[in-house]
Amino acid sequence: MMNLRLGFLASGGGSNLQAIIDACKNGRLKAECCVVISNNSKSKALKRGKSAGIPTAHLSTKTHSTNEQLDLAITEKLEEHKVNLVILAGYMKLLGPSTVAKFRNRILNIHPALLPRFSGKGFYGKNIHKSVLSSNEKFTGVTIHLVDEQYDHGPIIAQKRIAIMKEDTLESLEQRVLSHEHELYVNTLRQIASGEIDLGSIAL
Ligand code: GAR
Repeated sequence: MMNLRLGFLASGGGSNLQAIIDACKNGRLKAECCVVISNNSKSKALKRGKSAGIPTAHLSTKTHSTNEQLDLAITEKLEEHKVNLVILAGYMKLLGPSTVAKFRNRILNIHPALLPRFSGKGFYGKNIHKSVLSSNEKFTGVTIHLVDEQYDHGPIIAQKRIAIMKEDTLESLEQRVLSHEHELYVNTLRQIASGEIDLGSIAL
């Protein structure tokens, strides 16, 4: 059993964040949502955090002039709230080396495709679904992985395959993948909380 203290980093809509907040509220997930950090002061993710009564912070290159300072500020904010598991939930920036080192084996990312395919710089959000659709794939999916210093790179913790339908559009695919993301993120966190998945034992 692990007493999860979650710290979120999110850039946009925050629907994954919301799914996890809801699961904590309704008791499906035993975890505390401790802080929501965003690089985007106007993001819906920050609004969702505030409405749920979770402390929030806007940390970006607007608030900190160098990447190093920003990285340290993120580490400090997570430590201030005694976070023991960092959740990237639609965070479109590369996490800096201080945060990655301080929370090694304690940072998860969700990616809306079957890693290692459709990954790396430029592959985020809608761009991924566009590429998947234009390459005539039969399947796409969702991947949750541990985060290291590179984009979309660390060991895979959970993956879900999703069939692509002939009639799928960018929007329909994006929505279907998102709803699977919500389910997979909550289920994976439940397995971490129960000890079924031991992140510390995974070589990174
Ligand atoms: C999600 O599809 C997430 O997997 C993706 O951005 C979306 C955010 O949605 N993340 C990435 O592409 C990261 N490389 P949300 O803000 O509604 O959770």
